[in-house]
Amino acid sequence: MSQLLVRGGGRLKGEVAVQGAKNSVLPILAATLLTADEVELRGCPRLRDVDASVRILRGLGCEAHWEGGNLLVKTGGLNAWSISDILMREMRSSAIFLGAILARCGQAELSYPGGCELGPRPIDLHLSGLRALGAEIGDAGGMLHCKAPELKGREVVLSLPSVGATENLMLAACGGSGVTTIANAAREPEIVDLQNFLRACGAKVYGAGTSTVTVEGKQPLHGCTYTIMPDRITAATYLCAAASAGGEIFLRGAREDHLATVTAVLREAGCSILADEAGIACTCQGRLQAVRPVRTAPYPGFPTDAQAILMAALLRSQGATVFEENIFENRYRHVDELTRMGANIRVSGRAAVVTGVETLHGAPVYCTDLRGGAALCVAALAAEGETTICEISHIDRGYEDLARDMRALGADAARIE
Ligand code: UD1
Repeated sequence: MSQLLVRGGGRLKGEVAVQGAKNSVLPILAATLLTADEVELRGCPRLRDVDASVRILRGLGCEAHWEGGNLLVKTGGLNAWSISDILMREMRSSAIFLGAILARCGQAELSYPGGCELGPRPIDLHLSGLRALGAEIGDAGGMLHCKAPELKGREVVLSLPSVGATENLMLAACGGSGVTTIANAAREPEIVDLQNFLRACGAKVYGAGTSTVTVEGKQPLHGCTYTIMPDRITAATYLCAAASAGGEIFLRGAREDHLATVTAVLREAGCSILADEAGIACTCQGRLQAVRPVRTAPYPGFPTDAQAILMAALLRSQGATVFEENIFENRYRHVDELTRMGANIRVSGRAAVVTGVETLHGAPVYCTDLRGGAALCVAALAAEGETTICEISHIDRGYEDLARDMRALGADAARIE
């Protein structure tokens, strides 16, 4: 089992290029099914979840191979419309393939993506939206049997702005006749990236980044070369690493416009952050200050994916900070592990109160989930002594090589196989 070994206490100094965004590339890989031509994805992060998507594509008869940091996909050989239960369980966001397979094949068969370490992860909004577009969806023994010989565009109103449901419907709508309008759509930058990819393939999609996304279906789509946007949660992780350990870092390619709520909180805590087209520079000195309550919310609110990471950065702050997790039910599992390092955190329902302590100490800790795992690394940088982080396969889902990037930023971190 691989582990991450971090010796804390030193300040950071260094520069790193931010990897391509996991949450962009996953729906874009599903979207490659909408054209039989070759698609080249530049700056594609090499992640466990990307590997899982590649295995799904290959299982459907498509070709996918790496050329350096670029992933080339050709779906001309598509010869199946079902995804095995094993592959569906491997990656929670595999449900996103449903809309794309339906659009391309008129039918699809896959199992529920299943439960999740963050709590239940229903796909009811995905399914009701697809039904509204004309799909017939049956559920037998945990398998979803979907048929839609003809998808028809119409207005679909989401009861909450689900990222995955918005993406699934955008992909299905590309294969539908007429115009689909998704109201109360998610506004995350990754939705804009998906729109940009679809447009590069010839699709007519408008409005991503606002609450209404419009798709004119049945456009002839072709291949393209597309560069994946930088990962805002990876950037947030490294900013929080600098906030936690102190020091001076530069994140090449990071976009502050995607991270405004995170950088605002870090500035409030005492970090100095300067951003331009080249990236984001962050300098942090001395102990951080506690900040006003941090409430997770759909974009442009504070991202739930950065909650654990920011919490880790504030463990040694002066004062107490209240967190409120409003997106997922079970997203404080990292708290027990942080407590082993000397953190003072009290959880009550969806609230967690972090009271800053003078010192943290290294300890053996376990990743409970992807961002919770990254949070352990952020905390370990500020802890005295050595921290061994186990179960890092969670981290591999979303970070190409966290130890490599941490070293580039001046940390004493190593991956032990
Ligand atoms: C995406 C991100 C994930 C991030 C999350 C919220 C990807 C691959 N993953 O996940 O990293 O944490 O957005 O920003 O992009 N919900 C329902 N029914 C549904 C769909 C969602 O009740 O059919 C609920 C969920 O349980 C959750 C909330 O809506 O409470 C938000 O989920 P959603 O925006 O769909 O997140 P994901 O797309 O799964």
